[in-house]
Amino acid sequence: MLQLEGVGKRFGGLPALDGVGFTVPKGQVTALIGPNGAGKSTLINCISGVLAPSAGSIRFGQAELAGMAPHHIARLGIARTFQNLKLFPRLSVLDNVLTGLTCEAGRSMVMAMLRLPYLRHRERQLKLRALEALDRFGLADKAALPVSILAYGDKKRVELARACVSTPRLVLLDEPVAGLNADETAAVGEQLGRLRREGQTLLLVEHDMELVMGLADQVVVLDSGRCIAAGSPAEVRRNPLVLEAYLGKMEATA
Ligand SMILES: Nc1ncnc2c1ncn2[C@@H]1O[C@H](COP(=O)(O)OP(=O)(O)OP(=O)(O)O)[C@@H](O)[C@H]1O
Ligand SMILES: [Mg+2]
Repeated sequence: MLQLEGVGKRFGGLPALDGVGFTVPKGQVTALIGPNGAGKSTLINCISGVLAPSAGSIRFGQAELAGMAPHHIARLGIARTFQNLKLFPRLSVLDNVLTGLTCEAGRSMVMAMLRLPYLRHRERQLKLRALEALDRFGLADKAALPVSILAYGDKKRVELARACVSTPRLVLLDEPVAGLNADETAAVGEQLGRLRREGQTLLLVEHDMELVMGLADQVVVLDSGRCIAAGSPAEVRRNPLVLEAYLGKMEATA
């Protein structure tokens, strides 16, 4: 579904990504792991159009995503969450999730202002879908609250609901359980497992190895901007290069 080849990204003179290549098969969970600063978020930003890669190609079906604007990429059916939450704090939980449907909501301001019966019907349909997405992540009872008053764990789940509400072809998740406690992590793990069983294609960046090993069909390992390993969770777990990448960093920071 998604095919990366030779993807590079430089910040100033420094390479954050260098010759990254792998594929994300349809209907599978691909986990992207690696030590802090490996380039995982940079890669998610390149795929979603937040950053333009400096080199290489990112193909999604027939489309070349490298250099394409984020809203065009979203319209192709790629949704994402952010490592550091990007919600609209003053909007309600429901309205935050509705922003995940802007691609479908139509663009005519005049039409929206006329409030034609058809548009009111359409608006109700979109709200219903947003409520369904909230329900799926256990947040339906919080729909009317301003998102700013929610606990951190709930905010993370609002982002998940917003990413999934449009039933995208591909969802990019940047550390969906970072900062969550054990119960919250287990709940999100369940919810992601359900998406997987439904055939949702996911690219999951995550440090929680238990979650990764339980969910992923394949694991890709980045270290210092390079792909150092790829394979099944079991293969990657016993790959000496992967152990070295993680242990090396631990020794360096010890
Ligand atoms: N906008 C930016 N400008 C300059 N350097 C950046 C920028 N974004 C990321 N970097 C650098 O690129 C490298 C990769 O960062 P990135 O955030 O992609 O790592 P990561 O794998 O997501 O790490 P973490 O696990 O800590 O989230 C780091 O050295 C980082 O300092
Ligand atoms: Mg990151």
